[in-house]
Amino acid sequence: MNASGPLLRWETQLLDAFELTGSGSHQPCPATLACAATWLTQGVPIVIPTETVYGLAAPALDREAVRAIFRIKQRPLDNPLIVHVTGSAQLESVGAQLSPLAAQLAQAFWPGPLTLVVASQASLPWVTAGLDSIAVRHPAHEFASALIRRVGPLAAPSANLSGLPSPTRALHAAHDLRGRVPLVVDAGDLEHGVESTVIDARGDTPILLRPGAVTAEELEACCGQKVRMPVVGSVARSPGMRYRHYSPRAEVWLYPPGASSAPRFSDDARQLRASGRRVAAIANCRVEVDHFIPLPADTRELGRRLFGWLRELDELGVDHILVEGVSGLGVGRAIMDRLERAASRIHSSEPDGAALRGSTL
Ligand code: TXA
Ligand code: MG
Repeated sequence: MNASGPLLRWETQLLDAFELTGSGSHQPCPATLACAATWLTQGVPIVIPTETVYGLAAPALDREAVRAIFRIKQRPLDNPLIVHVTGSAQLESVGAQLSPLAAQLAQAFWPGPLTLVVASQASLPWVTAGLDSIAVRHPAHEFASALIRRVGPLAAPSANLSGLPSPTRALHAAHDLRGRVPLVVDAGDLEHGVESTVIDARGDTPILLRPGAVTAEELEACCGQKVRMPVVGSVARSPGMRYRHYSPRAEVWLYPPGASSAPRFSDDARQLRASGRRVAAIANCRVEVDHFIPLPADTRELGRRLFGWLRELDELGVDHILVEGVSGLGVGRAIMDRLERAASRIHSSEPDGAALRGSTL
């Protein structure tokens, strides 16, 4: 179910987040900050950059403004939002109660791309979808934090239409939300390109609800214990993980990493093209396709680029995107999670390469 109510139409303006100072460094642009703050204090959601992906932000304490977020991005109402804060006074204002584990993780990773699900003492059902927990994070992005310091805690999901890949460029957000928001703040390409890691930190052990830019290995090194996976079907599981996500229009087929995938990969590409489909590949193994993107050796670089490539290949009108996966270590775990959600067909690494999901050709 999506929120009902009017969907206002706007002339969407793109403004730069940063300006150059006399000394050649950059700082949040005062005019853009003022404009963003004005819309937000009037209860109108806008698109802002963070260090992970662009977010569709509204003041967390403003119920109507937050409801408008759900309408604008056509988000199911049972999928709660992350509240972005810049300090302990703001955490208190949204009723977030940090457990000792949450405090330890916040100390180590904030500001940064880590979201903590903690107990909540406030009643903000429009943000939490009625759960008794709340997801909070202190973003490291200079424009986002300057804005939050000025206007208070901001609820912000990724600034895409529900189900599409998260925006890593202002133009991606504008593509999805043009006419639905008055302002998109443009900070260029973002540092991570994958969303924050979501950890349930209510107990003594961290539970990984969504892999993201902070890796499980980094979290384990910090708290000296293994990160646990949520029990499938448990209430602890992040509601957002129930939905199919990150899907471009083109069909994504996912292959195991490594040279052993090459023959199947090339066969599929050949057969698809022979049947008249336009095919793209993101892979190490060089295959004959309409658009070939070499897989970057650096997984963080892949994280920064992946969502943008999925969108750009859609723009080029390809029918299929064949992707060679990466190892599930480090940020590779988040990348594989997103690819598995986007894929209509996933090949196993078994010798016969059977499809784990989806039909065969
Ligand atoms: O990097 C990010 O996290 C970006 C930027 C804008 O901060 N935001 C983002 O928000 O990815 P969104 O709404 O696309 O994803 C938030 C995730 C969803 O999977 C949601 O279900 C989960 O966090 N979540 C929010 N509140 C929760 C809660 N109380 N308990 C469990 N999961 C929660
Ligand atoms: Mg999202």
